[in-house]
Amino acid sequence: MSTSPRPVVVAPSILSADFARLADEAERMKASGADWLHVDVMDGHFVPNLTVGPPVVKALRGVSELPLDCHLMIEDPFAYAPRFVDAGAHGITFHVEVGGDLRGLCERIRAAGVRAGAALKPATPPDAVFDLLDVLDMVLVMTVEPGFGGQAYMADMGPKISAVREAIGERPVDLQVDGGLNPETVRHAAAAGANVIVAGSAVFRAPDAAAAIEALRAGASAYPA
Ligand code: DX5
Ligand code: ZN
Repeated sequence: MSTSPRPVVVAPSILSADFARLADEAERMKASGADWLHVDVMDGHFVPNLTVGPPVVKALRGVSELPLDCHLMIEDPFAYAPRFVDAGAHGITFHVEVGGDLRGLCERIRAAGVRAGAALKPATPPDAVFDLLDVLDMVLVMTVEPGFGGQAYMADMGPKISAVREAIGERPVDLQVDGGLNPETVRHAAAAGANVIVAGSAVFRAPDAAAAIEALRAGASAYPA
């Protein structure tokens, strides 16, 4: 069970938004009680899908006060992280599977005043982030195979979420989950130790986004961190 003092954060993923009306969608999320906006960046190589890049982050930055939580599902975060910093990202999360000098990457992101996050695909063991915890602001445990919204939550990620939470200990590091989160599955993730909840379809496809965000927050808070 979690012992973290971190507050619950709900971050709707714009992957499920109406891309033709992104400013309106960002405003709708703010009005509905979202804490952050989650921006899924895909390069067609690290994952078999393509989405948005720094220009869209910059445009969102100009129309929304919500912190922009950028999830980089790309092969070369070393080359592109600075562009997301310049575009106004609040946080930049890279995938550890890309390898290389991840500690240096975290240090460069943080030196720019931006939060550094490290993400784990479902098959990647939790200890892949343990050596980075002192230079991280957040760990992201993927609860679907990255690439697409609308997939089913992988409940077998529970032990990995718990293992990361235990390794974090008293460090000021958030534990994010992403993929298949809804007001029911969020309880499982939060019980295992997650405190930052990403949700795409459960928020954007809901008839009432504010009610959906509130239900996610309530579910995540049912297990006090
Ligand atoms: C998947 C993305 C997720 C996705 C979540 O690769 O990282 O952020 O948008 O969508 P849902 O909540 O619909 O599973
Ligand atoms: Zn994501």
